[in-house]
Amino acid sequence: MKVLGFVGSPREDGNTKIMVEAVLKGAREAGAETELFNLNQMDIAPCQACMHCKENEGECGTDDDMQTAYAQIRESDAFVLGSPVYMWQMSAQAKLFTDRLYANFKTGFEDKYGQKAVALVFSQGNPDKNLFQEYFYYTQNMFEFLGYKMVGLISSHDNSIPGAVENKKEVLDQARELGMKLTQG
Ligand SMILES: Cc1cc2nc3c(=O)[nH]c(=O)nc-3n(C[C@H](O)[C@H](O)[C@H](O)COP(=O)(O)O)c2cc1C
Repeated sequence: MKVLGFVGSPREDGNTKIMVEAVLKGAREAGAETELFNLNQMDIAPCQACMHCKENEGECGTDDDMQTAYAQIRESDAFVLGSPVYMWQMSAQAKLFTDRLYANFKTGFEDKYGQKAVALVFSQGNPDKNLFQEYFYYTQNMFEFLGYKMVGLISSHDNSIPGAVENKKEVLDQARELGMKLTQG
């Protein structure tokens, strides 16, 4: 059992990373092996819409660090994608990664490698916890449509200061529980 974490915040000491790490901690407590990737440090180009993947059984034609992510996802059982809310949406780093998952869409990926479980984590500065719920729900639906099994989503609000979530025990507890749930597929 392997669970991956992808962090879509450029902040090394940021809330997103803390939350993703808490999810991975929960997964480890449930017996999984985990690995963390910081998307900001990876060279991931935008999808070029070349359709190479559609003619090559899901193999993306762009040779960059997303190839590492594809290989890791194939060999793992689940992943958590974390993102700060930027302009009411996921960050550009998280979006580049998400767009590139198009390569695996409808290419027999699940038949070959099994359906992967996914969890989402968002951190926002705004103190209104409900403000982006519609977007979070929409994003979950998109991942299900892509063929992943959505296991859950957590969000944390009022996090303008890096590391603010460190003091929010209930959020970190939720994150750990989500990590445990990810291992159950
Ligand atoms: C470019 C940019 C855009 C942002 N847009 C929003 C936003 O639309 N809504 C919001 O609530 N917070 C917004 N924020 C604040 C971040 O979502 C918030 O600080 C978050 O906790 C950052 O996560 P991190 O610590 O993991 O980087 C924005 C921050 C930046 C830098």
